[in-house]
Amino acid sequence: MTTPSSTILLGVNVDHCATVRQARFREHMLDHGDEVEPDPVAFALLCEEAGADGITMHLREDRRHVQDSDIRRAHEQIKTRLNFEMGCSDEIVALALDLKPHSACLVPESREEVTTEGGLDVAGQKARIADVVAAMTEHGIITSLFIDPDPTQIEAAAEIKSPWIELHTGAYANAYYHEGRAKELQVLKQGAEFAHQLGLVVNAGHGINYTNIKEVITIPHLHELNIGHTIVSRALFVGIKQAVQEMKAFLA
Ligand code: PXP
Repeated sequence: MTTPSSTILLGVNVDHCATVRQARFREHMLDHGDEVEPDPVAFALLCEEAGADGITMHLREDRRHVQDSDIRRAHEQIKTRLNFEMGCSDEIVALALDLKPHSACLVPESREEVTTEGGLDVAGQKARIADVVAAMTEHGIITSLFIDPDPTQIEAAAEIKSPWIELHTGAYANAYYHEGRAKELQVLKQGAEFAHQLGLVVNAGHGINYTNIKEVITIPHLHELNIGHTIVSRALFVGIKQAVQEMKAFLA
C-alpha cells in the first residue's frame, strides 16, 4: 500500500446537522426563536476550531436540509472556506454567483444529469456545464465537478476547463465489504492519476468513513476530501470536535 505524499485537506459536509434540525423544526423555523436546533453554522464553526480546512453545504432545490439563510450565514461567519455544493439550475447558479463562495461543487440534482454510478454527467451535457464553469470563473469562484472516476467524464471536465474535480467514492465505499473493493479502489487511483495528468486538482468524497479512509488516502494526488455522514454520526458519541480531530489525524 502506498502512502500519501503530503497532507490531504479535510472539508466537512455539515448537511446532516441541518437534516436533524429539519426533522423537528421544518415547519417552525421562524416561530421558535433560539429553540431551533441544531444550528449547522454553529456546528461548522466548531468543525473549524477542531481543524477542518473547509466547510461544505449543499443547498438542494427542495431545501430538504440546508436553507438559503444557512448558506448566507455560513459565508459570513466561517473563517476557512465555504464549498457550496449545488445543482446547475438557473436559480441556484444565480444564488452562487451572488454569494461568491470560495468554491462551488456541481452535483447532479435531476435524473437526466446523473451517470449510472451517480456522478454528474459532464460528458453528456458539456455545453450547459461549460457555461456554468465559465460564469463561476468570471466571478472568482473555483468550480469543482462531482464525477465518477471515469476517463470520459474526467476528460470532459478538463475540456470545459473546470479547475477542480471531486471523484465520487460511493461505488468504492459500497463495495468495501464485497469482492469489488480492490477494483473500485484501482479505478479511483487510475482516475486520480489521469485527472492529475490533465492538470485537474483532485478532490474526492461520498461514503468515506473512519475505516475506509485508510485506503482512500492511498489514492494519488488528493487535494481535499469532503466527508459528512460519518463525522456527524461519530459526533453524536464523542462530540464534533473530537470527531473532526480523529478524521484529521488520518490525513496528516
Ligand atoms: N461530496 C459530495 C459531492 C456529496 O454529495 C456528499 C454527500 O452529501 C459528500 C461529499 C459527503 O458524503 P458523505 O456524507 O457520505 O460523507
